[in-house]
Amino acid sequence: MRIVTTIADVRTAVRDAKSAGRAVSFVPTMGALHGGHASLLHRARKEGSFVVASIFVNPLQFNDPNDLAAYPRTAEADEALCKSAGVDLVWRPTAETIYPADFDTRVEPGKLAAGLEGLHRPGHFGGMATVVLKLLNVVTPDVAFFGLKDFQQFAIVRRMVRDLDVPVKIVGCPTVREEDGLAMSSRNAKLSPESRMLAAHLSRVIHAAARAMRSGERADRARDLAFSDLSSQSAIEIEYLEVVDRDSLLPVVDEPTANAVVLVAAVVGGIRLIDNVEVVPRDKDSS
Ligand code: PAF
Repeated sequence: MRIVTTIADVRTAVRDAKSAGRAVSFVPTMGALHGGHASLLHRARKEGSFVVASIFVNPLQFNDPNDLAAYPRTAEADEALCKSAGVDLVWRPTAETIYPADFDTRVEPGKLAAGLEGLHRPGHFGGMATVVLKLLNVVTPDVAFFGLKDFQQFAIVRRMVRDLDVPVKIVGCPTVREEDGLAMSSRNAKLSPESRMLAAHLSRVIHAAARAMRSGERADRARDLAFSDLSSQSAIEIEYLEVVDRDSLLPVVDEPTANAVVLVAAVVGGIRLIDNVEVVPRDKDSS
């Protein structure tokens, strides 16, 4: 496994791999890697013969400077995880490499970015889409992998790639969970033991809502029940709990719920967590 920082080194390594006939798969990350990232890397290993991972904490997608400063940075452990997952090339750019002093361009996602996370984290998706487009333009992978835990992010990236004709296949991979159901996240390490127990309730509540809809419950009723269950926990501050269509991300009320996804964002013991579950899970990874 090679670790590089410059755009020129990435381009050379990818060009050599492609001229040797290798398919390039790519996993963009912000580091603090966990089991969820490992599953993306393993999937990338299966699908491509040259695996690239990027590790870059993207300042442009943090609307809160404290959140950026507090973001966990675990360089050595990240490199070890990449190595054991069979990554060929780790790209660890500096902020100046990605955003030189005169950098002046932003990607502005449309309607898909308007609600949910978009309402609570202004500017987040513009910053995320800008860096993802830049990373894709440098790495030029055949296929790139994103976790479905960041459901709205996946929908926005997929649409951006389609709208802007970026020649890459985008694959969404299922959320990886701890034994008690808590979705794996870099933020989980910051939970106190009490908050960690409570955090698993997010997953229980949205899975119960999805089960209810699968058995014929209306989306608005399932959502309201889930909301009142979660609100009964005073240590959980709900930011949103919504049932939306998985493609348009528009609210589902009493329409058929086969295409619906339940999404939640909440602050548990000072740590902001997100999770989601599709009412009818897709058979395989979505692309
Ligand atoms: O999901 C993430 O870790 C980030 O949003 C991404 C896609 C690496 C862009 O910075």
